[in-house]
Amino acid sequence: MKKHHLQLGLWAAALLTFSETAFPAEPRPTLKDAYKDQFYVGVAVNRTIAMGAAGTADNVNRNSDQVQKDAQTVLQQFNQVVAENDMKWALIHPQQGADGFDFGPADAFVDFGLRNHMYLVGHTLVWHGQTPIWVFQGTNPPPVREKDDAPNAASKRFRYDGPRASREELLARMREHIHTVVGRYKGKIKVWDVVNEAISDKGSDLLRDSLWMEIIGPDFIAKAFEYAHEADPDAILRYNDYGLENPTKRQKLITLIKSLQAQKVPVMAIGSQTHVSVSGPSFEEMDRALTEMATLGLPIHITEFDVNSARTGQGTTGADISGNSTTTQGGLVENADQRLADQYAALFKAFLKHKDVVKIVTFWGVNDGVSWRAKGKPLLFDSDNAPKPAFDAVIRAATDSK
Ligand code: XIL
Repeated sequence: MKKHHLQLGLWAAALLTFSETAFPAEPRPTLKDAYKDQFYVGVAVNRTIAMGAAGTADNVNRNSDQVQKDAQTVLQQFNQVVAENDMKWALIHPQQGADGFDFGPADAFVDFGLRNHMYLVGHTLVWHGQTPIWVFQGTNPPPVREKDDAPNAASKRFRYDGPRASREELLARMREHIHTVVGRYKGKIKVWDVVNEAISDKGSDLLRDSLWMEIIGPDFIAKAFEYAHEADPDAILRYNDYGLENPTKRQKLITLIKSLQAQKVPVMAIGSQTHVSVSGPSFEEMDRALTEMATLGLPIHITEFDVNSARTGQGTTGADISGNSTTTQGGLVENADQRLADQYAALFKAFLKHKDVVKIVTFWGVNDGVSWRAKGKPLLFDSDNAPKPAFDAVIRAATDSK
């Protein structure tokens, strides 16, 4: 009996020694530590994380165990947060009138961020997407359209042909919305996406056709920035768009921002969504994109970073959200894990090269399980929050640069 005990003891001791060698006690580095001298490393959080409650929100369904682990990863790895949906007009201001706001989830997000000492970003004040139709409704007759004239054709979901608000009414609604939302979180939310995705993907059109454009005209952008600046003069005000890796779209961005700057509009940062894929952009293309955007003299924030690994999602630019689901079908590319790691390494190398202007890098979701492009497995953690090879590649990019 005694001998047996001893043998067991030896066996346990041997196991311990083995495990100490195989799994050194040194903790794995975290993203926020690896990049702490370079830029904030942020993440979009969904309502389940912000509220600490299981459920269905932001197109995901997580049980309480998963929510807890998702939140742990957020706290462990990131030092900046943005609400994935809850500050969009349709969510925070669904109805007209004094009682039309729904601040619950947005307040929970702000509490979550402040409680955990994170840098808070607000997304987004003026956008053609996720905005209720009441915003544009009024008593003015809708425009008469030719059969084939399809404004907002990029997405019919954003079209409304009923009676409309006047320019003055819509500007007044925009101002009230911005003042209420920005004012509520003044001093807490440090950066705002003021205007989202206003640039057109079509031909030589500078601005996207939208109800903002049709009713107010191109100066809806300048007005939104002016109102946001009135509401919180200390907030960093950002213009945010996607596809800026594409030289044509980027040239439009440069034209737009220069014209805003010439009019003394308080645009203070460029948000580049950076929804890209394992096929591109390359390091060189990202390097060039950042070099050109930096000529505007504003900080650059990588605002919605993810890297699509789905076979059908390898077009590198121009992925409008309305086409998102079709870009994540058909399974993953071959060697997806390795290609994802290589692509993340290349793009972080470019961000590091431009660390003087790149101030924030935000991932659009904490892990593949909650990603808006879940089928494209675009993030650094799998749906169980286990780090993927891409995570190690991102950490290595930081270490290699020192
Ligand atoms: C996405 C969210 O991730 C989804 O949950 C939602 O259903 C649609 O919007 N560009 C943006 C983000 O600026 O707000 C979008 O977020 C992704 C594309």
